[in-house]
Amino acid sequence: MSQLHVINHPMIQHKLSIMRMKETGPKDFRELLKEIAMLMGYEVTRDIPLMDVEIETPICKMMAKKVDGRKMAIVPILRAGIGMVDGLLNLVPVAKVGHIGLYRDEETHNPVVYFCKLPEDIQDRLVILTDPMLATGGSACDAIAMLKERGCNNIRLMCLVAAPDGVARVQAEHPDVDIYVAAVDDHLNSKAYIVPGLGDAGDRIFGTK
Ligand code: PRP
Ligand code: URA
Repeated sequence: MSQLHVINHPMIQHKLSIMRMKETGPKDFRELLKEIAMLMGYEVTRDIPLMDVEIETPICKMMAKKVDGRKMAIVPILRAGIGMVDGLLNLVPVAKVGHIGLYRDEETHNPVVYFCKLPEDIQDRLVILTDPMLATGGSACDAIAMLKERGCNNIRLMCLVAAPDGVARVQAEHPDVDIYVAAVDDHLNSKAYIVPGLGDAGDRIFGTK
């Protein structure tokens, strides 16, 4: 079974509370999401391999440790996942970025695919799939399945707020994919929105409602 990591660092919880507030506008919402994504990135990348490289300090040569960021890809689920990309790129500037476009049908709540553009060598990379909201889990599960069809076998899912249903579904359908979230909320309402949640993440990032 995949692991659920709840990253409840005080700075992340503080920023998330401001994001949840209904009076927080798109500018602050975007900035906070970017900051949280960078902070969460520390945990998501905590165990990635290091390589030894010889460098020279002003004093002497030494063997030092470096991350090979070329082995990573960040894949946001459009639209809202885009809001987490820049924060992660601050940490790993040479990571490649793919995009998976999915929206939830308003009646069925099932995801509909409308776009997919991934780095050519995606199967050789650690993929960090980003989406602020993990509600029913349908979008994340479909996106993970698309990545697996392309040969990816090292995928981590990074979300901001999850519902218990979404976590359970990803763990059942993709037991090899670890999930990183800042909070697991109480339940889904009749429209499959997370309660208490933060509303529609895409609309709040892009000011579309
Ligand atoms: C939201 C969110 C996730 C999805 C989560 O996207 O960003 O992708 O819903 O719901 P699920 O776990 O039930 O699938 P939405 O479909 O609203 O599209 P948007 O990001 O373009 O607004
Ligand atoms: N998508 C969102 O943006 N918010 C929710 O609460 C659920 C799905």
